[in-house]
Amino acid sequence: MNAIFSLPEATTHAVRVDQIFYGLLILSGSTMLLVFALVISFAARYRRGSNAKRGPLPEFFKREFEIGWTSATLFLFGFLFWWASSADIKGIAAPANALEMHVVAKQWMWKTQHSNGAREINALHVPVDQPVRLVMTSQDAIHSFFVPAFRVKQDVLPGQDTSIWFQATRTGVFPLLCAEYCGTNHSAMRGRIVVMRQEDYANWLTRQPEGDDLAHVGAKLFVAQGCSGCHAEHSSVHAPKLTGLYGRTVQLSDGRQVKADDQYIRDSILQPKRDIVAGYEPIMPSFSGLLDDGEIQSLTAYVRSLRSEKAGAATEQQND
Ligand code: CUA
Repeated sequence: MNAIFSLPEATTHAVRVDQIFYGLLILSGSTMLLVFALVISFAARYRRGSNAKRGPLPEFFKREFEIGWTSATLFLFGFLFWWASSADIKGIAAPANALEMHVVAKQWMWKTQHSNGAREINALHVPVDQPVRLVMTSQDAIHSFFVPAFRVKQDVLPGQDTSIWFQATRTGVFPLLCAEYCGTNHSAMRGRIVVMRQEDYANWLTRQPEGDDLAHVGAKLFVAQGCSGCHAEHSSVHAPKLTGLYGRTVQLSDGRQVKADDQYIRDSILQPKRDIVAGYEPIMPSFSGLLDDGEIQSLTAYVRSLRSEKAGAATEQQND
């Protein structure tokens, strides 16, 4: 289908969003036309002084008819709800083989980082036909990562990770905007998403200056910040071990269960007293104020890299 207002449809998600948009537009447009036509024709037909019949309704318009059209509309709107929400739900969880990239927003720029550590400012290169998951956080105000051609928009919050994913379907350069008013230069907080052929992306990535990848930076921080004193495999301190933690469900001492995702790891670093793992003492100090957002992302990436061997192998298989 043609793109809305000639905006390119550059992801699989964009196609779904546009189909729903056009579906709703056609449906509500024709409903409106029908209602207007009836209003006008009834106004003309039953105007004062006309001799149209004003007696009881014909036999046909009885209870069954009423029930029929009410349930038909109910069914139709139930279908619309299912259609739109299933597209939204597909947009939430990224496929397991998604490439992971990091975004840090600040007044007033977008800082992005690839899994091998290559960094960019106000730009992000991605391969076509490959799911890409962005893990995003802000250093200051609330920003919003908005790529109109991708039909994705996600708020980027300080002190919290949010994520989105997309799979680009065509190569090209697409504008990235900030969609949340974030101060004086909000309107200048722009960037571009460069979608490349997969080989070109691989080449481009190898040409970027060597940066330590996030997990390696995190591994160094893990030692430098003293985390390893308690959380390393061989440590004698009674603290939760981190191997295989990421993605698992954790039993907390107050009976709750939480999934060990990016947000849980960030919270555990910054507010360690909040979610105490069952069987452990609340002895960990908070690292709030001691680590910046980039460092927390690196530590999270390191913990993520400690997924068990088995889980790692499964992910690799899906990549093949
Ligand atoms: Cu960042 Cu508006």
